Amino acid sequence: MAQIIDGKAAAAKILENVTKGAEELKTRGVTPGLAVVIVGEDPASQVYVASKSKKATECGFHSVQHSLPENTSEDELVSLVEDLNRDPAIHGILVQLPLPKHINSDRIIYTIAPEKDVDGFHILNVGMLGTGAIAKALVPCTPAGAMLLIEGVRGKDLSGLSAVVIGRSNIVGKPMANLLLAANATVTIAHSRTADLAAVCRNADIVVAAVGRPQMVKGEWIKPGATVIDVGINRIPAPEKGEGKTRLVGDVDYAEAEKVAGSITPVPGGVGPMTIAMLMANTLAAANRASGRDTPDL
Ligand code: GUN
Repeated sequence: MAQIIDGKAAAAKILENVTKGAEELKTRGVTPGLAVVIVGEDPASQVYVASKSKKATECGFHSVQHSLPENTSEDELVSLVEDLNRDPAIHGILVQLPLPKHINSDRIIYTIAPEKDVDGFHILNVGMLGTGAIAKALVPCTPAGAMLLIEGVRGKDLSGLSAVVIGRSNIVGKPMANLLLAANATVTIAHSRTADLAAVCRNADIVVAAVGRPQMVKGEWIKPGATVIDVGINRIPAPEKGEGKTRLVGDVDYAEAEKVAGSITPVPGGVGPMTIAMLMANTLAAANRASGRDTPDL
């Protein structure tokens, strides 16, 4: 039986510290400010964005949401981001992805001032993470949160441990691999073209699954005692709950993996809650840096 890694509790602790940090900064006359921008009507994105804005308010931040129509032009969006770059009350800017097809996401991301890029998607932040200048970078929220969960069970120094990241996205897989490498793990990035993924996983002390394929990682792929971090959130049919019902599962076959792993994140309640907590942590860090202060450890 594996130790179940409680992401909800870890996220609550971070949010408590962020709220305290915001209070402290306010005594110095600075209120951390987060601007969230959404273009179009995608219902899932609307839900995500609303919860980010709400959480920012709960942390005591100045929270602004810009909801723009689907037919917003790329130039109009660039112009809004430039306004937010200049706004001293805003320390973090998040443009929700995906953007409508007529807008070039890279151009928008690179328009965001790197010091306000709380998603950590700007090439400057990507580069700082890749070169090990993590203390100066803003790190993408999901891998940053996953890394804190790994540290919670394995400590900060992963020397001698092997880690496999399944998935090579810019949002999760690649930054996750860089964080693990910076913590001295021996890192493999596996993906859809990897031969014998099962064998690659069986060697790993730490497995991070971020592929978006329900229950793809099987229990028999897991090395006994390994730490399993499941980044996937997939909705699948659940006829056992009644006709037309669904349930959330990760990229890992949890019921099987849990019997073999040393520690494992559940879905929901694992990495998911950490993502939004790290967004708040990044915003606080950006606000601290804007006023010339170091980022406190969370
Ligand atoms: N869409 C899905 N996840 C994310 C995220 O982490 N940041 C942004 N900006 N958009 C997303």
